[in-house]
Formats: sequence, C-alpha cells, structure tokens
Amino acid sequence: MSLLARGGAVLLLLLLAACGTEYPQNSLSPHSDFAETIHQLYVSIFWWTMFILAVVWIILAWVLVKFRAREGDEKPRQIRGHLGLEIGWTVGPALIVIAIAIPTIQAVFATQRPVSEDAMTIEVTGHRFWWEFHYPEQGITTANELVLPVDRPVNLRLGSPDVIHSFWVPKLGGKRDVNPTVAVREGEDPKYNWLFFTPQETGYFYGQCAEFCGESHAFMSMRVLVETEEDFQAWADRWRESPGALPPAGPEDPEDETELEMAGVPAQADEPDQLEIGDDDPLVAMGRDIFLNQATCLACHAIEGTSAQGDRGPNLTLFGERTTLASGILENNPENLAAWIKDPWAFKPAAAMPGVDYDMQGTAGYWPATALSDEQVRAVAAYLLSLK
Ligand code: CUA
Repeated sequence: MSLLARGGAVLLLLLLAACGTEYPQNSLSPHSDFAETIHQLYVSIFWWTMFILAVVWIILAWVLVKFRAREGDEKPRQIRGHLGLEIGWTVGPALIVIAIAIPTIQAVFATQRPVSEDAMTIEVTGHRFWWEFHYPEQGITTANELVLPVDRPVNLRLGSPDVIHSFWVPKLGGKRDVNPTVAVREGEDPKYNWLFFTPQETGYFYGQCAEFCGESHAFMSMRVLVETEEDFQAWADRWRESPGALPPAGPEDPEDETELEMAGVPAQADEPDQLEIGDDDPLVAMGRDIFLNQATCLACHAIEGTSAQGDRGPNLTLFGERTTLASGILENNPENLAAWIKDPWAFKPAAAMPGVDYDMQGTAGYWPATALSDEQVRAVAAYLLSLK
C-alpha cells in the first residue's frame, strides 16, 4: 500500500470514529455550570490555536511559493542573526501563553469558588473499588449511583479511607482527586477536596474513577441520576421509608408476611416492572432470610429499616432501583446480580467481597466464602432486586 493510501485510510478511520453520536463520557457535552466553564475555555483556546495554525500555514505556503529556488537564481543573501525576528518569535509566543493563561486561571478560580449558601452537601467516599454517597442533610447513604436534583447547586466533599481515587463525571464535573483523609496530626481536621456544580439537565450521566487505585481501577465507574426536585424528594422519601424491605424497625417479627405486604411500594409507573418480583414472592422471602439471618452479608452491607447495618460495603437500600451493579460495570438484572454474588472477582479482581467458594482477605479484615448454593444466590438476588 502506498504511503498516500495508508494516510488516506488513517484519515478515513479518524473521520468515521467521529461519526458516532453516543459518547456517555464526552467532556465536550457540558450539562453543568462547572462542565460549561471548562468547555468554553477548551473551545475558545481550540479556535485561537486554529487561527494561529492558519496564519502560520498561510505564511509558510506563501514563503514556499515565493522564495522557492528557480532555474538561474543567484545564491540569496545569507543572514546570520536578526534582532527583530529574534524579539518577534520570543515575544509572540510569550503573549500567546499569557493570552491562554488569563482565561485558564479565571476558570481554575471559577471552579474552586466557595460554595453557595443553598448548596446541598454530599459526602463522596472513594473506596477500592466503589463509590459511596452520603447525604448528611437527608440522612441517606447510597452507592455507585448518585441521585441529584436538577438546578440545585451541589457541594461534593471528596474523601477516601484507602488510596487516592479521582471523581470524574465528564458531563457534570471533575476530575478532582479523592484523597485519603487521615488527619495528618492529632486533633487536626482531615483535608477534603471539594467539588461544586449545578446540574442543568435531567438524565443519567456516566463517570469513572480517574486515578489508578489498584487492580480494578478500570471497573470503578459510577452513574449520576439528575432528577426534578419532586422526583428527588420522592426518592429521598422512598429511601427513608425503607421501601420494599421490611416494615420500619419495631417489635414485630420481621418474618411476618402481612407486614411484608404492607411495606410494598409500587414500582415506577412509567416503566414496566421487568423483574416481576413482588414482596410476597417466596424467593424474595427466602433471600431476605439468607441475607439477614443466615449469611454474613449484613457484616458489610446495610439496608435501611432492617437489621443489616454494616458500613464496610455499599449500602443496598433501594438497590432494585439502580440501573447498574458492581459500581456501574454490569446492568442490574437477576442474572448479572446472581453471577456477581457468586463470583465477584470474575468481574472485579480484588473486590472486597468473598465469593460463594473463596475467602476474601483484605485490609479491612477476613471474610469467609459465603458457601451459598445456586438457589440461595438466586434468592438473595431476588430479594435485593425487590428493594425499591
Ligand atoms: Cu478508584 Cu481508580
């Protein structure tokens, strides 16, 4: 293949690569004030550099044509050193750097501004290898799928109990390091990073840990669901009402079937309930019994309104409403969930969760294999998916 053909093929490939329309982590498609600031900076610098490129190419082309050697030309005057040119090509680039630096520094400060009064604070914790979101004002803790109201400023407090992660949801904000928050000295406050933005559109936005944090760094994704204020409040209410799980903590026997029916919460009306799992499903009841009474799930996981109050792993309240599992890497359906519970390491090496037949030895302790049968795994999956 000739050089020209190869070059053409490469160019065609690049062009075709730009033809797709769906880029869930496209940083050129801003949906928050933060992302908009960065996008404007990027676009303005891009067009200025294109302008400079055009000027340079035009001059270059003119010089190449005008001064090319022609038959019978005399040797041109030889120049060594030219003060004007030397000053020109030193001052010119310096001015360009200054011109780029001014809006860049403005954008840096704009995205570090102090949080506004009406912002909602959310404590974001990067774990190996999943995301925890705690809403102190609402008393809510969730994992891997951050729910935000549209048009309300949010104030993310970023911290990690282990290594450095990085919060990045390209269409909304980031990336910003999520640093270990061990206090450097006794009595000192841990140093948190903060990230402020106002989501401007409803929908799902995809994010990814952007700092290498170990074996499964690449599998540390997340989703942000931006909802209307009403939908957000409804979600918060559902969370607090310990939906679909158990009746609110009380003296009643949690195994009482009538109580379980009372706790039923209808699935979202605009979406068919593909899972077809009701609270009265015997598989759900079996899974609940395994989760809360037989297996060690509750040592790490919490489900609001139940005896499961572990805080080492993701909080699973309203798990059935999540679209993904294992921090954004698998679609949340019964098959994937069962496969995950059976063998988490098949999807996420070094995840801090034992499988049915292997132990987990990690920094946070030792977790024996769950030894669940296939049917028990299906039951636990059914129970978790009923939480909505
Ligand atoms: Cu967490 Cu990379």
